[in-house]
Amino acid sequence: MLLVIDSANVEEIKELIDYYPIDGVTTNPSIIVKEKLDFFPLLKEISEIIGNERELFVQTLTFKAEDIIKEAKYIRETVPGNVVVKIPVTNEGIKAIKTLKEIGIRTLGTTVYTPLQAYVAAKAGASYVAPYVNRIDNLTGNGVNVVKEITQLLEKHHYNCQVLAASFKNIQQVHNVCLDGAHGVTAAPDIIKGFLTHPATEANVQSFSDDWQKAYGEKSVVN
Ligand code: E4P
Repeated sequence: MLLVIDSANVEEIKELIDYYPIDGVTTNPSIIVKEKLDFFPLLKEISEIIGNERELFVQTLTFKAEDIIKEAKYIRETVPGNVVVKIPVTNEGIKAIKTLKEIGIRTLGTTVYTPLQAYVAAKAGASYVAPYVNRIDNLTGNGVNVVKEITQLLEKHHYNCQVLAASFKNIQQVHNVCLDGAHGVTAAPDIIKGFLTHPATEANVQSFSDDWQKAYGEKSVVN
């Protein structure tokens, strides 16, 4: 199951890669503009940090299929590494995904709110689809259930397309999509760090250390 960072902040990406088993980085235009840096130099820096063994997901900005295709090719030529192009699942986006599949450019169908959007993107040749859990919840839908239905649909019909669940505002949403079979999650750094946060774990670690120190002082097991 993939664990992906949803951020373009270089320091946060470096820190998370150092500590966690990270498979890639997703960006979108809103995430990029927060950094107030030039688009391609920033993406190149992220690509260098994560290396070829991880995937970097970069989103297109245009609306018409011909422009999306041009942009996708340019992104792939300009950004080194293992780049997957994120394309919104509009009519034009699906048209672009079909063409990009034919010429061997890997894509992720993004802004997914329904199982049928995911189905069309997978059938058009997307390698991933990204359902937006929290944004679905905010529309009084059930984001976790949409992820579950998409996963069932794609697996039942043997599409070679992974469900990378996205848009999380809390750990409970991540917990639920993991249990329901999503192939991966992409989450902001603070959400990923929250996976390991538990007061009982911290208290246990402290009490083990206190017991040890009472008996042996600062002595370590390593000479
Ligand atoms: C990831 O691919 C999406 O762009 C992202 O998860 C959207 O998240 P948000 O709803 O927190 O902006």
